[in-house]
Formats: sequence, structure tokens, C-alpha cells
Amino acid sequence: MKRILVTGALGQIGSELTTALRKRYGADVVIASDIKMVPRDALGAPGPFEYMDCTNFQQVQEVVRKHNIGTIYHLAAVLSAVAEEKPQVAWEVNMGGLYQVLEVARQSQCAVFVPSSIGAFGPNTPRDNTPQDTIQRPNTMYGVTKVAAELLCDYYHTRFGVDTRGVRYPGLISHVTPPGGGTTDYAVEIFYEAVRHGRYHCFLGGDTQLDMMYMPDAIKAAISLMEADPGKLRHRNAFNVTAMAVTPEILAAEIRKHLPNFSMDYVIDPVRQAIADSWPKSIDDSAARREWGWQPDFDLANMTKDMLAQLRDKFERAKQV
Ligand code: NAD
Ligand code: SER
Repeated sequence: MKRILVTGALGQIGSELTTALRKRYGADVVIASDIKMVPRDALGAPGPFEYMDCTNFQQVQEVVRKHNIGTIYHLAAVLSAVAEEKPQVAWEVNMGGLYQVLEVARQSQCAVFVPSSIGAFGPNTPRDNTPQDTIQRPNTMYGVTKVAAELLCDYYHTRFGVDTRGVRYPGLISHVTPPGGGTTDYAVEIFYEAVRHGRYHCFLGGDTQLDMMYMPDAIKAAISLMEADPGKLRHRNAFNVTAMAVTPEILAAEIRKHLPNFSMDYVIDPVRQAIADSWPKSIDDSAARREWGWQPDFDLANMTKDMLAQLRDKFERAKQV
């Protein structure tokens, strides 16, 4: 029986995607892997774990052969803010890792899911309701690797027949694993700080608008796309997907509906502000809706309510251990 491999499984998305895949297909069917070792309770649903550096062809090949892998969710990557600090490492992991994964997939006939990002757009891209097909000239190393990854996945599909698929995620908001060093991390930190301390020092300006999505919708998008009828996928490696467009001020106002004393001030990080200013303010996801039925379940109001409740529970449980 063909199994599923998740790379970068201990990250913000991987930790929840692995659990969701194990619930859907069975714990033994899903092999988690990462360059970090697995902490005891990192992945909600237990199952096999492999230490694997995605930039190492032999390690990827061994894991794929050993477990008879048929599908790879390739999540290992360096995110936007860290990529600006360490552009050489970002190129090596984001492009080098993807290349090795695609080569192994080509040889072992695996399907591959690779997330792209709103970071694949740049300052020349139309910023409002950014179309599915438009100018992509990003000015960050993260963006350069994301556009190149979209193109490389297209190439492996058309040239070698590898079943590559992917979405351009907006910023992802979640409460299980903290984000790994991106520009949209403020939208997660704001909730942690609101529940813990009732205040937040935001590193982006209050009117900086970016698209966001709650993690359950991000997981749903990945699994739905991989299960979609391939005959209907015209934009197979780079579907715009979104759920809400927010600014720090809008998020803070929504949080205040539940925590009226919440306060926020600004300590702007010029690097992350410049990255955010080069990204779309909102994106058009009609191609994903049309081609594979994409639709988010969470809007700003129900995401905020759920995030606050989940974090309160999380901190309560932490106090009891
Ligand atoms: P993350 O930083 O939280 O996790 C990445 C994981 O990859 C980490 O656990 C890390 O240890 C692992 N990793 C790093 N280098 C590795 C290597 N050489 N070999 C194996 N594993 C390695 O990232 P994430 O937020 O879970 O993002 C996953 C993917 O989704 C990335 O491609 C990212 O660009 C994309 N994405 C994320 C967001 C978001 O808001 N989280 C938005 C858009 C796109
Ligand atoms: N959340 C991601 C980042 O900020 C977007 O790709 O890097």
C-alpha cells in the first residue's frame, strides 16, 4: 500500500497537517519527517517519524523507498523574514530541497504537494484582489524561491508527468505550533499576547493589509487539492487561496470584542514592513473555487472566537502540568 510522507512535519503547518492526514488515512500510512527530532507530544496523532534533511537526495530516496511513499507533502522551507536574514540558506533549503524531492518523486512516481505563498508576488503586482495570473517579480529571497518553485513544479509535471500540485497560502493563523519566522507572524503573536498579557507590540504598521487564513482551512485546502480530479486543474501548482483580508487594527478590534481591555502599540520592524508592503493586500481565489471547489469555513469573527478559546485552553492545560 502506498503511503504519505510529510517533510517539515514539525513546523506550523506540518504539525497539524500530519495529525489531519493520520486521522483521515490511518496513523501508519503517514510518515512524518523533519530535520529536527520529534518532541514527545509534537504531533497529536502518533505514528512513524524519520529524521530527514530534504536537501540530501539519498536521505529522501531512502525514506521514500523504505516506506513505499506515493504522495509527498513537501513543507520543509525557510520563511520570509528568516530568508531575508539568511538568503543563501533559504535558496539551499527552498530550491535545493525542492529539487531533491522532485527528483525522488520523478524516479518513484510520487505525487507532490508544494505550498507557494502570497510572497510569490512583488511590488509590481496589482495589490488589490490580485489575479491568479499576473506579474510576479518579488524582491525578496523568499519570493524568488517561491516563484521558482511554482515554475519548477510546473516543469516536472509537463516534462516528466509528476503529479505536482500547490496553493499560494496567505498568512496562516494557528494555535498548535508557533510560526517559523514569517512576515505574517504578527497575526498569530497578537492572539498569544492578548490572552497571556492583554497587550501586544506589533511589528507591522496598523493599516498594513494582508490576506490571512485559519489553519483548519489551510489543511482542508491541501487535502482537497490533492484529492481533486486532475483533469480539472488548469493552475495546478499555484492556486491563489484566501479566507480574509485584515490589518493589525482590524484584528485588534475583533479581539477587543472578546477582551475589551486589550491594547496594542507599534514597534515597527523595517525589514518585515518592507516585505509586507511588497505583497498583495488581497488576492482573488476564484480559480481555486472554480477548478476544485475551494471554499474556506472560517471568517474573521469565527476564527477569532476559536483562536481565543483554544489558546485559553492551551495555557490552562500548561498550568496544570
Ligand atoms: P515552518 O517554518 O513552521 O516549518 C518548516 C519546517 O521545515 C520546520 O519544522 C523545519 O525544521 C523544517 N526544515 C527546515 N529545513 C529543513 C530541511 N533541510 N530538511 C527537512 N526539514 C527542514 O513553516 P510552515 O509555516 O509550516 O510552512 C510550510 C510551507 O508552507 C513552506 O513552504 C512555507 O513557505 C509555506 N507557507 C507557509 C505560510 C504560513 O503562514 N505558515 C504561508 C504561505 C506559505
Ligand atoms: N506566512 C508566510 C511568511 O510570512 C507567508 O508565506 O513568510
